[in-house]
Amino acid sequence: MATPSTPPLLTMSGITKSFPGVRALDGVDLDVAAGEVHCLLGQNGAGKSTLIKVLAGAHQPDEGEIVWRGERVALKSPVAAMNLGIATIYQELDLVRHLSVAENVFLGHEVATKGFVRRREARQRTAELLKRLGHPEIEPGRIVGSLSAAGQQIVSMARALSHDVKLIVMDEPSAALDPDEVDNLFRIVADLTDQGVAVIYISHRLEEIRRIGDRVTVLKDGRAAASGLPAKDTPTPKVVSLMTGRNVEYAFPEKAPEDVVVRGGEPVLTAEGLALDGEFAPVDFELRPGEIVGLAGLVGSGRSEILETVFGARKPTAGRITVAGKPLRLGSVTAAVAAGLGLAPEERKSQALLMTESVSRNVSISSLSRFSRGSWLDRGGERAATRAAARDLSLRPDNPDALIRTLSGGNQQKAVLARWLLRGCKVLLLDEPTRGVDVGARAELYALIRRLADEGVAVLLVSSEIPEVLGLADRVIVLREGRVVHTAPAHELDEHRVLDLVMEGS
Ligand SMILES: Nc1ncnc2c1ncn2[C@@H]1O[C@H](COP(=O)(O)OP(=O)(O)OP(=O)(O)O)[C@@H](O)[C@H]1O
Ligand SMILES: [Mg+2]
Repeated sequence: MATPSTPPLLTMSGITKSFPGVRALDGVDLDVAAGEVHCLLGQNGAGKSTLIKVLAGAHQPDEGEIVWRGERVALKSPVAAMNLGIATIYQELDLVRHLSVAENVFLGHEVATKGFVRRREARQRTAELLKRLGHPEIEPGRIVGSLSAAGQQIVSMARALSHDVKLIVMDEPSAALDPDEVDNLFRIVADLTDQGVAVIYISHRLEEIRRIGDRVTVLKDGRAAASGLPAKDTPTPKVVSLMTGRNVEYAFPEKAPEDVVVRGGEPVLTAEGLALDGEFAPVDFELRPGEIVGLAGLVGSGRSEILETVFGARKPTAGRITVAGKPLRLGSVTAAVAAGLGLAPEERKSQALLMTESVSRNVSISSLSRFSRGSWLDRGGERAATRAAARDLSLRPDNPDALIRTLSGGNQQKAVLARWLLRGCKVLLLDEPTRGVDVGARAELYALIRRLADEGVAVLLVSSEIPEVLGLADRVIVLREGRVVHTAPAHELDEHRVLDLVMEGS
C-alpha cells in the first residue's frame, strides 16, 4: 500500500448525483492511492454503483470534482475514462454475448477486429491476457454467450487489462464465483496492486474485504458514513453499524423442529430418478412442507440445473416428479407454476425481470389472475399487494411505479423474491437468493425464508456460500459433477466437511 505521503491517484470530492425522485449521491468524497485496494461498502441502494459509474464516465455528476494524478478532469464518456487508465468491471456484465472473446476484449480499440492480420493480433493478445489471468483454457475465438458467468467475468477483466490501466473498479466481482475462483480473483488483484495498479472493490462479503482490502469507505444513503478506514482492523460490528445505522444480528433463524425433518408430513414434492444427460445423474429427493433443503456444490455440479428441471425450464431425460401426490408434467413451466412451484433464478436480469416494466408489474406478473376483474386489471390492488411484499423485504425505493431497471442490483433481486412471496407457492426454488443482497437485508431475508417454511412452504435452496446453506437449511444434499455425493441433516455437517465433499470427496 502507498505511504501516506504519496499524493492520491484519484480524489473525488463532493460528488452529487440525482435521478428523478432520488438523490443517489450526496456530496461523496473518495480518495484512492496507487497500489491500494480500496473497498466500497454499503447497503443495497446506498450509491456504490452510481459512484463508480460517475468514475467510469457513464454518469455525469450534478456537482463535485474529480482530480486524477494531480489534475482536474471531466469524464465526459466511458472512452474518456478508459483513455486515462480507469477500467470498470460492472455488476451486470456488459459484454456482447454473440461476439467472440477476442472481439469483446478489443471492442473499440485501435486494434480493430476487422481484417485478417488485425484479428490475428487481437486473438494473440487476448490469449496472452487470458493466460495472465490464470485462464489459458478460454479460447479467444469462443462466443462469449457460451461461457459461464465466471468465464465472462474473466473476459471483462481481460478487456480492462487490454488498456494501460492504473485503476480497476470491480463492482461485486465475487458474487458469481466459487471459492476457488474467488482465490484466483484475489491472486489477480494482488498481481495488479504489486504493479502499482489501484483497485476499487465493491462487495457485500465482509470477510473478503478483510482479506484483500487496504482501506474501506462506507456509503449510506448516498453519503460517505466513513472514508478510508483500515480494512483489516476495523471491527465488523462497527462496519455494519456504519452501513445500517443499527446493530445487525448475524444469527440464522431457528431450524425446523426435528419432527418436520425426520418424520415429517407427506412430502409435497418427490423427485425419483430425475436425470438430465450431460448435466446431472439420476437424483432422488423429497421436500416436505416446512423444511428447507439445501443443494451444495460448485458451479457446474448440476445444482442450478436441478432447480431448473424441477421448475420445468428444462426437460429431464429420465425420472418423474410428484407434487402433492400428483404427477407433474415435465419440461413445462406452466405446469410447474400451476402446481404451486416458484423459482427465483440465479441470473435475475436475463431470466426473471422485465427490465422495461415497473417494480409493481415485475412483482405481480405471476399473480395477475388474482387482480383480473373481467377484462380489466385492478391496478390499485396490484400496487397495494406489491407494496406489502416489498415491505417484507425492505425493497427500495418504496415506489411500486419505479422502473425495475432503475433499482440497485440487490433491490432487483428482492423484487424477484417478492414475486414468489406474493404468489404464495407450495414449493419455492431459490437459486442464490442472497447474491448481491447486503448484510442487513440478508438477515431479514433469512428470517423471511424460514417464516415461509414455518407457514408450510417447502424450500429448495442453492447457494455458493456454504455457511448460508448450513445456517439456513434443515437438510443438505451435496453434489459433485452432477452426482449426489452425500445427504445429511445440516447439523451433522460443517464447512470443512462440505468443502471436502464438493471439491474432491474424502
Ligand atoms: N438510472 C437510474 N434511474 C433512477 N434511479 C436510479 C438509477 N440508477 C440508480 N438509481 C437509484 O440510485 C440509488 C443508488 O443505486 P446504486 O445502484 O448506486 O446502489 P448500490 O449501492 O450499487 O446498491 P446494490 O448493493 O444493491 O448494488 C438507488 O436508490 C437506485 O434506485
Ligand atoms: Mg450496485
